Amino acid sequence: MTDFFKGKRVLLTGHSGFKGSWMSRLLILAGADLTGYSLTPPSDPALFHLLGLDRDMNSVTGDVRDYDGLLRVMRDVKPEIVFHLAAQPIVRESYRSPRETFDTNVMGTVNLLEAVRQTDSAVSVVNVTTDKVYLNREVMRGYREDDPLDGYDPYSNSKSCSDLVTHSYRNSFFSEGPAVSTARAGNVIGGGDFAADRILPDCVRAAVRGEPVVLRNPNSVRPYQHVLEPLFAYLLIAERQAVDPSLQGAYNVGPAESDAVTTGEIADLFIRFWGREARRESRSDGGPHEAGLLMLDCAKIRDVLGWRPVWNIEEAVRRTVEWFGVWADGGSVTEITDRQIKEYGDLYAKLEE
Ligand SMILES: NC(=O)c1ccc[n+]([C@@H]2O[C@H](COP(=O)([O-])OP(=O)(O)OC[C@H]3O[C@@H](n4cnc5c(N)ncnc54)[C@H](O)[C@@H]3O)[C@@H](O)[C@H]2O)c1
Repeated sequence: MTDFFKGKRVLLTGHSGFKGSWMSRLLILAGADLTGYSLTPPSDPALFHLLGLDRDMNSVTGDVRDYDGLLRVMRDVKPEIVFHLAAQPIVRESYRSPRETFDTNVMGTVNLLEAVRQTDSAVSVVNVTTDKVYLNREVMRGYREDDPLDGYDPYSNSKSCSDLVTHSYRNSFFSEGPAVSTARAGNVIGGGDFAADRILPDCVRAAVRGEPVVLRNPNSVRPYQHVLEPLFAYLLIAERQAVDPSLQGAYNVGPAESDAVTTGEIADLFIRFWGREARRESRSDGGPHEAGLLMLDCAKIRDVLGWRPVWNIEEAVRRTVEWFGVWADGGSVTEITDRQIKEYGDLYAKLEE
């Protein structure tokens, strides 16, 4: 990582979540003057608490649906860089609570961009959407940034809308800046994800309880990657577009195509690396529709920004299991988190040379 973020005022929404906690730690280590804005952590335990992040940053509890609250924080902080991660991010939850999902994910984005517009301090904004923004035709090729946006379920569709809202703000209001991009990353795995309805946390919970890992859709193909991969990409986008606004746009962020694996293969890797008693079984619970095949074409971010994945899927699962092993044994999660960041960062820097 460069020293671009050192001393920079950064606002991060969703800082109390899984990706937000890793991102907070990264930005703290990079020397940023960091403020987070989000609801309280969405899980218990929560990586945010395990890392004691509120000691090293200005952590604000607030709702992105509360425009006045968001604007107040934006005016206080006057961030130069903004990362928008706050969202209701679970597909199944979006079937249970579609209104809340659209409200948070779409109006939350509108509120954030409007607060940016009214504050005039930001030079660079990254809105984190997802690979699920695309109209999924279940085709055997990766989606490209200019493919149509039309997610199927309320979560995916709310993120398609969030992406489109971002384009509208850029076209309508931000011709003089800030530079604004959307980043469409695939499913991530990593230590400290305690969310329900996600494959690796499900594996860890089952293994700790000595129960089999139950897979709902063992044949679903997803572009899984370690959480550090998209986070380094978000940092790169934010930095590069701040310097050269012509780089703003939409960027897919995913693994090499050879690393798009099935949920069953992820569970098998988990079992291999866990090294203690763990087994799996497949059982559909008749849940709602979820995409079966989803792949991303990441040529743009590679060709334009020079970003490329660092850890393949095996390494990503190994690192995740390593992290949860330390946590399960009562070890220092800050130490393992910082070590993984350092080891990832060293390799990333080498690939950049
Ligand atoms: N985890 C993945 O595999 C994945 C993949 C692609 C994209 N994403 C995106 O990355 C972002 C972070 O995901 P995550 O996995 O860390 O999720 P998470 O559930 O762990 O964290 C979500 C964060 O958003 C906050 N939040 C939720 N509703 C809010 C509201 N109304 N107001 C303010 N804050 C609110 C939560 O408090 C939390 O800090 C989301 O935008 C998600 O859509 C995640």
